[in-house]
Amino acid sequence: MNGEIEPETSSSWLGLDGRGVLIAGAGGIGSACAKAFIGGGARIVLVDQDQARLEATTKEIHGPCKAIVADLSVATSARMAVKQATEVLGEIDIFIHCVGINQRKPVLDVSEDDWTKVLRINLDSAFWLAQSVGRSMVERGFGRIIILSSVSGLLAHPDHAPYAASKGAINQMMRVMAREWAPFGVTVNAIAPGYTETDLTMDYLERDGNRAKLQKMVPVGRLGTTQELTGPALFLASPHSSFITGHVLYVDGGRTLV
Ligand SMILES: NC(=O)c1ccc[n+]([C@@H]2O[C@H](COP(=O)([O-])OP(=O)(O)OC[C@H]3O[C@@H](n4cnc5c(N)ncnc54)[C@H](O)[C@@H]3O)[C@@H](O)[C@H]2O)c1
Repeated sequence: MNGEIEPETSSSWLGLDGRGVLIAGAGGIGSACAKAFIGGGARIVLVDQDQARLEATTKEIHGPCKAIVADLSVATSARMAVKQATEVLGEIDIFIHCVGINQRKPVLDVSEDDWTKVLRINLDSAFWLAQSVGRSMVERGFGRIIILSSVSGLLAHPDHAPYAASKGAINQMMRVMAREWAPFGVTVNAIAPGYTETDLTMDYLERDGNRAKLQKMVPVGRLGTTQELTGPALFLASPHSSFITGHVLYVDGGRTLV
């Protein structure tokens, strides 16, 4: 299934029937995306380093979904995962990067290990996976790449230096990929969520009244849900977004307005 599908000629409004989707990261947001894309008629390969998490997610999904275990912070493993996913899907039409960690520490306490770990998992994995997937998409003349950024790529949250650096870098990396690959039918965009309840944020939200403090900073008055990220991801993967590339879509209840 090469090339663009016109929305009006697709059998469903989303135009995702039969599309091959690689989702890196089977956590809260990656799993929600996997379920939403299966619901939209796509075929999925999920990659994560956590086998138990992959098993739990694939059990909940009723549809074509295969799992691959890999440490995606290592370039060779990331490339191998793309190769294996391509063997399963035939072609990867859509790639969604949902891998990430955070280490909340003041700048003066960040160690070399902290810095390297966050940058390798958040940024290196996105670069090596997108490069590998992008190579085939450019050759075929079609592709959709969506990378999970964060409001931290724009705002200066204390205790977030490595995480914020990784997300700011993702935004710029995404823009360069978008510019280079636009002539080849490949769009590259980022989704930047505000605080959303997943394993990434759960412990922090439960401590020291953090949830209430953070909710007050969101004009909508609450935190986001993973389901509120799947609509934007489906849209950016669909034929309806064919003229949108290099964009950071904030899904944050207005957090970046404050
Ligand atoms: N949850 C939020 O509030 C929020 C807000 C802004 C941005 N984001 C971004 O969204 C993305 C997904 O976050 P989430 O909330 O679903 O987090 P999550 O913790 O639920 O999932 C992250 C997944 O990444 C996997 N992972 C970590 N290191 C890996 C590695 N080396 N190789 C392979 N997999 C690895 C974990 O096993 C986990 O399944 C991340 O990029 C995160 O920064 C999340």
